[in-house]
Amino acid sequence: MEDAKHICVYSGCAHPELSQKIANYLGVNLGKVHITHFPDGEIFVQFEENVRRADAFLIQPTCNPPNDNLMELLIMIDAARRASAARITAVLPYFGYARQDRKDKPRVPITAKLVANLLTVAGADRILTVDLHAQQIQGFFDIPVDHLYARPVLVPYIKSLIGDHGVVVAPDSGSTKMAMYYGDMLQAGFAVVTKRRIDANTVASSHLVGDVKDRICVITDDLTSTAGTLCAAAKILRANGATRVYAAVSHCLLNETGKEKLLATPEIEQLITTDAVPITDTLNGKIKVISLAPLLGEAISRIHDGKSISSLFYIKK
Ligand code: R5P
Repeated sequence: MEDAKHICVYSGCAHPELSQKIANYLGVNLGKVHITHFPDGEIFVQFEENVRRADAFLIQPTCNPPNDNLMELLIMIDAARRASAARITAVLPYFGYARQDRKDKPRVPITAKLVANLLTVAGADRILTVDLHAQQIQGFFDIPVDHLYARPVLVPYIKSLIGDHGVVVAPDSGSTKMAMYYGDMLQAGFAVVTKRRIDANTVASSHLVGDVKDRICVITDDLTSTAGTLCAAAKILRANGATRVYAAVSHCLLNETGKEKLLATPEIEQLITTDAVPITDTLNGKIKVISLAPLLGEAISRIHDGKSISSLFYIKK
């Protein structure tokens, strides 16, 4: 890496509001970049200022539409590299395509690895991201990955809801570790629900391991898409005597069916999430959004200054 002189923060089209909040936290203006489409739909990117020797941070969650947002980020990285940025950090508050992270059936791809390769080949020098679907995805990269967690941002609000006698619930076996970390931060009990995915839109929760009777529960997961996982778990918790059930996810990717399902599931009092991806509708307060901008802004500042980011893994005192 050349000697990077100054922080430059650029936003892709996926989530300009979050990028602006991050720039505000850092006390800088968002960098000037022109992004448009050719008549045939191809993406065109041009940085409209000098980026030579810049420490460039390109902010783009690869949320819906994932293919457009990913391609745009790759093209931004390519343009920044060819314009001689000293260092390029791809900031993905949400890293999409991560659920396909292993070959668990014959003849399927590992898209998380494919995306890691694409980002690296395009010219990213580092990655900054939040709550990867599986932590091991960090190892799919041969460039540094700074991996942040949403829980220090979400826990104070969750604590105000569940108090001292709550139970953190993993809605499937894949989310047990995350739930245990939440449990430690919240000093709460722990339970797990078993999940069987019938198809991409349907899940069934069958068994509960743990005691939730007369307790307030919070179901924690990395993301929600159809809300099937959260709603099925909430129903089983209420059927087993939980007094109230909340849900908390780092990435709220709810589609229209998911929003309808969440609204039609009174067993979930509220879904707590972040602004890692744009949330256009909070469903009359059923969704509570807490911003990641200070966390990401502080991480960017520390990366630029060569400081440790591990203090960001804990709740700010
Ligand atoms: C799965 O492994 C993930 O952690 C989530 O549990 C899942 O993707 C949620 O999807 P949905 O909201 O469609 O049930």
